[in-house]
Amino acid sequence: MSTRLLEGRPAIVTGAAGGIGRGHILHLAAAGAPVVINDINGEAAAALADDVTAAGGKALVSTHNIGTREGAEGLIQACIDAFGSVRILVNNAGNLRDRTLLKMTDDDLDSVLTVHVKGTFWCTQAAARAMAEQGQGGAIVNTTSGGHFGSFGQTAYSAAKGAIASMTYTWAFELARYGIRVNAIGPLGTTAMSKTYRDADGKPGDEFDPTLNGPAVVYLCSDEAENVSGQVFGTGGPRLAHMVQPHYGKTLVKPDGWDLESIRKHFQTHMPGEFGPFGILGKPYPFHGGVRPPEPKDD
Ligand SMILES: NC(=O)c1ccc[n+]([C@@H]2O[C@H](COP(=O)([O-])OP(=O)(O)OC[C@H]3O[C@@H](n4cnc5c(N)ncnc54)[C@H](O)[C@@H]3O)[C@@H](O)[C@H]2O)c1
Repeated sequence: MSTRLLEGRPAIVTGAAGGIGRGHILHLAAAGAPVVINDINGEAAAALADDVTAAGGKALVSTHNIGTREGAEGLIQACIDAFGSVRILVNNAGNLRDRTLLKMTDDDLDSVLTVHVKGTFWCTQAAARAMAEQGQGGAIVNTTSGGHFGSFGQTAYSAAKGAIASMTYTWAFELARYGIRVNAIGPLGTTAMSKTYRDADGKPGDEFDPTLNGPAVVYLCSDEAENVSGQVFGTGGPRLAHMVQPHYGKTLVKPDGWDLESIRKHFQTHMPGEFGPFGILGKPYPFHGGVRPPEPKDD
């Protein structure tokens, strides 16, 4: 039997027709939340709504495009009109335009930043305004990715996911006074989106059931997580990982400030040894040997 931690609390998931968002919907509904299934793919969203109602839950389909302010505001209003309030928002919708920096276009960047960053901003602003007005608090879960640590070929996506992590930290500060908690997940799941992924050797990643991110979302939205805000978790597959916020590491102190000569004297002896792994796969730091222009080509 499911644990109904969210009984009667209306919940919205954006981009929920398939993949990871579909799993969030199934788990939120099983926990007792009336759900709004938002997606520009209305057919798949309607099929999921049928599954939820067949299992005894309440579901509303929204085909609002959250990549516009009107769409985001319309989505939040549709939830309030159908279920009387909005208590939970999961910003999950996403798109990809993977290109290396040298090949990408303005349109690639705009498309990804609009859906992920502006879509998350517009939905959260509208939902948080409604939650503050309702006075019952609320829970928001954003969707970031390990891709924001750096991911070859993903300038737009890593920028978007980094922005979402940073907005999560800021909104946790700003919305606590209204009893609204804001966290994020970096999920894992084999989905339409993940199928485009290739590792450095050109191989696809391991297979993961995309619905297994849902239980963590339910927990984060429940009162049992009332002490959790401004945090990011890696979810999905076998893991539940705390994604540690960037913070200052090794720090050299010179009370009168660092002039160039002092930096030249101390930098190479104190800093490079501290450089840790980076990138989505956390490979060893690759640049200790230096990064230099290619050798001139012979004509
Ligand atoms: N799959 C993974 O392993 C993985 C890893 C890290 C992060 N993520 C993130 O998880 C989230 C879900 O991804 P997924 O893998 O399930 O991909 P997916 O492509 O299956 O799902 C994304 C959904 O968002 C919808 N969508 C796109 N633009 C929209 C818009 N403007 N308005 C409304 N809906 C819109 C799409 O129709 C689609 O159904 C994304 O934010 C993604 O970046 C996924």
